[in-house]
Amino acid sequence: MKLKDKIVLITGGNRGIGLALAHCFYDNGAIVIVTGRNEEHLDTVYEDNPEIQTHYLDLLDPSCYQNLFDNVKSRYGKLDILVNNAAVLFSGDFTKNAYTYEQISLEISTNVSAPISITKTMLPLLEGNGMSTVCNITSAVANLPMKSLPIYSATKAALRSFSISLRESLSDSNVRVVEVQPPLVATNMTSSLPGKARDMKMISPDECAQEIVNGIKRDKELILIGNSTKSLFWGSKFFPKLILRNLNKM
Ligand SMILES: NC(=O)c1ccc[n+]([C@@H]2O[C@H](COP(=O)([O-])OP(=O)(O)OC[C@H]3O[C@@H](n4cnc5c(N)ncnc54)[C@H](OP(=O)(O)O)[C@@H]3O)[C@@H](O)[C@H]2O)c1
Repeated sequence: MKLKDKIVLITGGNRGIGLALAHCFYDNGAIVIVTGRNEEHLDTVYEDNPEIQTHYLDLLDPSCYQNLFDNVKSRYGKLDILVNNAAVLFSGDFTKNAYTYEQISLEISTNVSAPISITKTMLPLLEGNGMSTVCNITSAVANLPMKSLPIYSATKAALRSFSISLRESLSDSNVRVVEVQPPLVATNMTSSLPGKARDMKMISPDECAQEIVNGIKRDKELILIGNSTKSLFWGSKFFPKLILRNLNKM
């Protein structure tokens, strides 16, 4: 897919992988809109990068979704690439005191309900305009859940499943569905990881973004970034119990 003059919408683009993606798409000639819920952060993104459009969107407030649709429709009349990037992560031992009902609900709403509902809202803008793409950011834990991330792992497995069924539903349309499984990336999210995971080798958000954009340009359906993610993905197919046990020793 060529990116020049393509309209790209990235949820959670005020920092981390989302912001790096915004720069990378822009460098490839795309017109980029990022969403965020923190107006101060959004203003900073706009001041530092006036070439990137910003749009206030709290994913936990579905009443904002229609406004996002109207805004993109009135400005551009179409959408070429939707990146469902925003997510939250809580870690802890589910069998002990970790996880309130509120945290469980927040993690599921942000990581599952929101990307599915945003996709539903934006689909009419993606359909019927030449090749377009829905890109969902999942994780290696979508295939191999970690006991220290029980809800996060479940949400990424759900988003992976949705990506596969959506791809089937849209197989006769102009909309492609891409799933991305990044490795560990040095962002705010990984700074809250438990134990040894936090000390493991991580790539930068820019490196991750470059791989995602390259994969989209090459029309890949599943973008597995880095050797660790590839080993976990294929290991989960051929030696699921062994790989699961080793991963959960971390
Ligand atoms: N980092 C990794 O190692 C890694 C590995 C695999 C997969 N991933 C996935 O990659 C994606 C990006 O992760 P990241 O590491 O860049 O995370 P991050 O640095 O924590 O950034 C998360 C983004 O999501 C936004 N967000 C969260 N809740 C929101 C809400 N209710 N409404 C609007 N925006 C909201 C945040 O905005 P605020 O600033 O307003 O909170 C922020 O822009 C996520 O889907 C993550 O699961 C990350």
